[in-house]
Amino acid sequence: MPERVVGSRPRLGVAVRVRVTALASLVVAVSLFAGAWLFLRAMHNSRVAEIDRDARVRANAVIETVKVGLAHTPLPSARDSSLMVQVINSSGTVAASTANVMDMNDPFVNPVRYPVATSGARVWSAVVDHARVRLCGKAVMTGDARSVVYVATPLTDLDDSIAAFRRQLLRISPLVLAGTAAALYLVVGRALRPVDVLRQEVEAIEPKDLHRRVTVPRVDDEVGRLARTMNALLDRLQAASDGQARFLSDASHELRTPLAVTRTRLEVGLRHADTTDWPATATAVLEQSRRMERLVSELLTLVRSDRGLVAPSIDVDLEDLVRSAVADARATNPRSVIDLSHLLAGRVHGDPDQLRRVVANLIDNALRHAHSMVAVSLTPPSNGRVRLVVDDDGPGISPEHRERVFQRFTRLDDSRARTSGGAGLGLAIVAELVLAHHGTVRVDEAPSGGARFIVELPEAP
Ligand SMILES: Nc1ncnc2c1ncn2[C@@H]1O[C@H](COP(=O)(O)OP(=O)(O)O)[C@@H](O)[C@H]1O
Ligand SMILES: [Mg+2]
Repeated sequence: MPERVVGSRPRLGVAVRVRVTALASLVVAVSLFAGAWLFLRAMHNSRVAEIDRDARVRANAVIETVKVGLAHTPLPSARDSSLMVQVINSSGTVAASTANVMDMNDPFVNPVRYPVATSGARVWSAVVDHARVRLCGKAVMTGDARSVVYVATPLTDLDDSIAAFRRQLLRISPLVLAGTAAALYLVVGRALRPVDVLRQEVEAIEPKDLHRRVTVPRVDDEVGRLARTMNALLDRLQAASDGQARFLSDASHELRTPLAVTRTRLEVGLRHADTTDWPATATAVLEQSRRMERLVSELLTLVRSDRGLVAPSIDVDLEDLVRSAVADARATNPRSVIDLSHLLAGRVHGDPDQLRRVVANLIDNALRHAHSMVAVSLTPPSNGRVRLVVDDDGPGISPEHRERVFQRFTRLDDSRARTSGGAGLGLAIVAELVLAHHGTVRVDEAPSGGARFIVELPEAP
């Protein structure tokens, strides 16, 4: 049977181990960088908030000096000497500043582009003298004159520490990622090792050692279940293979007897060629070849049914079929008495040849075992099933053998009847054909004490 592949076409397989490792490493890398980014942002924001708070305090202090007219250059520098302060008067020129920006003649920013109010300080980021700063601006009215106070805090320190952190991160992240990938590769490999062990075990099982089983891991995980499923599959394969072997050996055994009889008859005949009764020999040989022909045809039917014979489904009139099978039986056994007084109509769906074989096999057995008569009856469908019953008044089949008779090569007859019987395949064929038609067959006791075979088949819709 061709290999079945899920999906449109097989893809080049990258080992699961590599795929899982790559994917998990990617997730780790993304998390690492996203985490670092969030951390840096939080650090930046909290530092800027701190700067703004200090700048406001400083701006208000300078405003107080402006109000009392004491704002002169150099304005006193605070503890943080990097802080830069300017006071801009109403004409837009620098009125006072801290010593560190004493030589700057222009305001930090254009007061028209960044208007500030007297009510509250405005804070924003800007570039002053090519350096990134945080600005805080607030206006103050002294009489009619409007002054603006700017406090600029350089962000150089903050930017430097962020850059340093980034450099560190870039230096260690390849190590972290390589370590993570290696650890994942090992862990995934360990987790998948049982699968590989299982694969190797299964691979080592040849058709001749179907009795072998794979080791089931103690843990009940996917691999454990896979192992158990494999073993169940091996059970079924072994059963099928044993069944085939038994079938083949039984079949050969059955064929050997008629072949041996034929050969012996002919050898003995030839050794005494003059005195041999040749017509009698021919009759005996003919009888054996009939037996073989029947056996071979039965074997073929069973082999075909083992491969899942699909019955053509047409409407079959069971009553007609029984009548014609009985007519055939009467033609070969002219003295047989077959009672058809309870043969009513019944229609089923299926293969007429196979259904005829079922009826013929049952009638053949019944005639062979009956003392005086056989009765075939057909009851009209009740709860959707047609019932066919074949009774005889022979010795019957004792309850302990009623299941076994449907198995292949089962014969219960004593040696007297055996010569006239077949290889014990008739009822096995009946059982399989009935099953293929979704029906059932069983043995019971006929009212006369003989055997009663009951076949039930689904009624044709
Ligand atoms: N109507 C019957 N009465 C008694 N025994 C029967 C009857 N039909 C079948 N059997 C028993 O069941 C065995 C199996 O039957 P079957 O499968 O038809 O094989 P075969 O006819 O080749 O012997 C027979 O050998 C016989 O012992
Ligand atoms: Mg038979």
